[in-house]
Amino acid sequence: LLLIGAFPMQESFEVKTSSGQYRVTSGRGLFQKARLEHPDAIYLVDAKLLPGLNLDGHKVISLPALESSKSLDKFSEIIVQLREFKANRDTHLFAVGGGVIQDIVTFAASIYMRGIAWTYFPTTLVSMADSCIGGKSSINVAGHKNLVGNIYPPSEVQVDLDFCLTLSAEEIVGGLAEAVKICYARGDEYFRKFLALNPAYPMSPDEGTRIVACALSAKKWIIEVDEFDCNERLLLNFGHTFGHALEAGSNFAIPHGVAVGMGVLVACNYARTANALTELGTKCSADLQRYMEQLLEPVRHSIVAALASIDFDAVMQKFESDKKHRADFYRMVIPVEDGGLKLISEPKNAATKMAIHSAYLNTFRALGYI
Ligand SMILES: NC(=O)c1ccc[n+]([C@@H]2O[C@H](COP(=O)([O-])OP(=O)(O)OC[C@H]3O[C@@H](n4cnc5c(N)ncnc54)[C@H](O)[C@@H]3O)[C@@H](O)[C@H]2O)c1
Ligand SMILES: [Zn+2]
Repeated sequence: LLLIGAFPMQESFEVKTSSGQYRVTSGRGLFQKARLEHPDAIYLVDAKLLPGLNLDGHKVISLPALESSKSLDKFSEIIVQLREFKANRDTHLFAVGGGVIQDIVTFAASIYMRGIAWTYFPTTLVSMADSCIGGKSSINVAGHKNLVGNIYPPSEVQVDLDFCLTLSAEEIVGGLAEAVKICYARGDEYFRKFLALNPAYPMSPDEGTRIVACALSAKKWIIEVDEFDCNERLLLNFGHTFGHALEAGSNFAIPHGVAVGMGVLVACNYARTANALTELGTKCSADLQRYMEQLLEPVRHSIVAALASIDFDAVMQKFESDKKHRADFYRMVIPVEDGGLKLISEPKNAATKMAIHSAYLNTFRALGYI
C-alpha cells in the first residue's frame, strides 16, 4: 500500500507467524498520532528519548538503553512499576526505543499476567529496518549476553521515520549495512531494488521510509518461510561472524552495524580464498562490495581510529569463540557464484585460520584503513 498526495507517504503490510499476525506500518508522525489517540496506554521508553516525546501526564516507565537494563534481575522492578500503574490484561503497552527496549518489552509483555498486548515504535535504524519484525527477545543473565529469551510478537509495529532525525552517522550507516544484508540475502531482485533507492548517509525521513519498507518486506519473506531459524533465516547472519569479532575485539569502539558492514566485506574477501581452499566456487558480488565500501565512507575516521588501537589477536580470539561454530568447524555465511549466499563449514586448521586472518587484513588494506 503506498499513499501519496494529500497523505504523508506511508507503507503497510502484515507479518504472519504461527502465533498470529501483526501489522507493520512505516511513515512519519506515527508516534505523536498514537500518543494523542491512546492517553491511557503505558509507555515504556528509552530514557534518552523521553524529553522529545511529549509524554507529560502519561504513564511512563523510562529506562536507559544499556545492556545492564536488559538483565533478568531488572525485571521485578519493571513488573512492579506496571503493577503500580494498575496494568491489567486489557492494558496496552507502547514501547519506544531501539533493540534494548524491544528486548525488554517483548519479555515483560509476555510474562506480565501471562501476557499483555504491546505496540512497538523502533527508534534506531537497525531496529526499524531489521529487528522490529521477528518477535524475539534476548535477555542477559549474570553477565552472559542474550542467554535467555522467548518469542512474543507485538500486536503492531509502527516505524516512525521521524526518529531518524536524531541518529548519528554511525547509527545510519550501521542500519543501512544491516538493511543491504537482508536485501542481498533475499535475492538479486531485492538487492537491485535496494540499490535503486541510493541508500546512504545523510538520509531524509522520506528516503528512510522507502528503504525501511524494502528491507522489511525482504525480511518478512525470510522470517515467514523460516520462522524457526532452520534455513533461509540463518543467511541473515551474513557479515555477523566476522563483524562480531571486530565489534568485541575493538571493545565496542566499532559499533555493531558498522562492524557488520565491515564483516560483509571480510566475508566477500574470504569467499575468494575459500574458492582456492575448498573449491566451493565462491565469488563475491562486486556490486555489493562497491556499495558497502561507499556506505562506510562517512564513518572512515572513526573506523581508522578504532583499528589503530585494535589488538588483532583479540579479534581472532573473538572469532574463535563465536557460539555459531561447531567443535571441528567454523561456520560462516559467504557470497557464492550465483549471487546468493551460503552457510559453509570450514575445518578448524592452520590453513583456515590463516585465510581468515588474511581476509581481515586484505579488506582493511584495500580500503586504506591500515
Ligand atoms: N530482539 C531482537 O530481535 C534483536 C535483534 C538484534 C539486536 N537486538 C539487541 O538490540 C540491542 C541493540 O539495539 P539497537 O542497536 O537498536 O540500539 P539500542 O537500543 O542499544 O540504542 C543504541 C543507542 O541509540 C540511542 N537511541 C535510540 N534511538 C535513538 C534516536 N532516535 N535518536 C538518537 N539516539 C537514539 C539509545 O539511547 C542508545 O544510546 C542489543 O542489546 C541487541 O542484543 C535485539
Ligand atoms: Zn546485526
